[in-house]
Amino acid sequence: MLTHEKNALLTQCGPQTTMGRFMRSFWIPAMTSAQVPAADDPPVRLTLLNERLVVFRDSEGRVGVIEENCPHRGASLFFGRNEEGGLRCVYHGWKFDVNGNCLEMPAEPKTSRMCQNVKARAYPAQIAGALLWVYMGDAQTVPDLPAFGFIGRPDDHLYASRWQQECNYAQAMEGELDSAHVSFLHKELNRTNPDHQALTGKYFQEDTAPLWKILPNGAGFMACNGRSVDGDKRYWRINQFLLPFFTMIPPRPGDAQLVRMWVPMTDERCWVICVSWRSDAPLNEQEITAWRNGENSHRKVVPGTTLPVERLDNDYLIDRQEQKTVSFTGIKGIRAQDAMVTESAGPIVDRTREHLGSSDIAVVAMRRALMEAATKCVDSGSPHQAAANPWLYSVRAVQAVLPRDQNLETAEDFLRTAQPTQPINPATH
Ligand code: FES
Ligand SMILES: [Fe+2]
Repeated sequence: MLTHEKNALLTQCGPQTTMGRFMRSFWIPAMTSAQVPAADDPPVRLTLLNERLVVFRDSEGRVGVIEENCPHRGASLFFGRNEEGGLRCVYHGWKFDVNGNCLEMPAEPKTSRMCQNVKARAYPAQIAGALLWVYMGDAQTVPDLPAFGFIGRPDDHLYASRWQQECNYAQAMEGELDSAHVSFLHKELNRTNPDHQALTGKYFQEDTAPLWKILPNGAGFMACNGRSVDGDKRYWRINQFLLPFFTMIPPRPGDAQLVRMWVPMTDERCWVICVSWRSDAPLNEQEITAWRNGENSHRKVVPGTTLPVERLDNDYLIDRQEQKTVSFTGIKGIRAQDAMVTESAGPIVDRTREHLGSSDIAVVAMRRALMEAATKCVDSGSPHQAAANPWLYSVRAVQAVLPRDQNLETAEDFLRTAQPTQPINPATH
């Protein structure tokens, strides 16, 4: 349970809020690189952390992310002309480059110097790891990109997608960290998956009340959950939470790795951005086709939009007959099932009314980590160590079956597989 004040602290991400200021000290993933327009193509809209922006590429291919509303009298630059090195507002012809500098004011006298004094708010942007990243914070302290394992890989090793979710980012992300729901929400009724470790497999049914351990990882924590299986064993999953809104869940053996990002669009809506990747080989056509169809890690969207096919306003195409005989929910697709439970709680769930149990340990840890880090960083004016140490993000989500009585903290070989792949610099500790 949270008070109204704490719920507001956790969920509000505008430029003046504590959480909004904290998030702005990180690079923010905003869209896939495929969604960034080509040079001189029309701009696209982008709502990020309660700010309305436009994204365009100038004639030289440089990416610009600037405020949507023209600094003159506010017309939307989405309707502007992207031509000859800048974006021109169609109201009075003011033109802006990718850094927000005003290049021309054709409705002013030739002698006017006003052009030099007007700037559109513009944010640094870069493309890496199949994503567009935007930095919306203090220009004096621009950090490096988080060193996720997918950054710097060849294009054919990566698949990125983005869709929108009709609820606050924290609520959406809670669904990812709460492993206990897998035994119910994603359960199938009419078959036993031969893969015990699949979300629809035997291990999630054998023990529906996992044991939880929260272990720090420097940029957040590892949400470790262990289920008693096969008599004397324990099936451990280590999910990663990385400030401010990144999660990883362990892939099945042989499957691609994945990082998911729960990025506030407004306080009542978020982007879900997902990158699937392999370190050692290109992705194959079969898995990419499955993701495009909304299977496993990604969602199927209405072509040309970020709107999922199964969504809140069509009741996720629930089939009540299938709910009796095929699946626990009657809704197709693991991600659509996840979205249904988090969105159906309302755009910002009233956390003063909830009743948390032991299955919510990771959810509580995430809220606490975010609120403590945000308050401390904003009060002190210095960035979190996670922003200053990008290598902390080179962790993995992993899983293993261990002897049931083995203490997780002593399973060093297993824990090592989840650690950052880059060496820890003692000077930063
Ligand atoms: S409102 Fe944009 S140029 Fe006038
Ligand atoms: Fe789920």
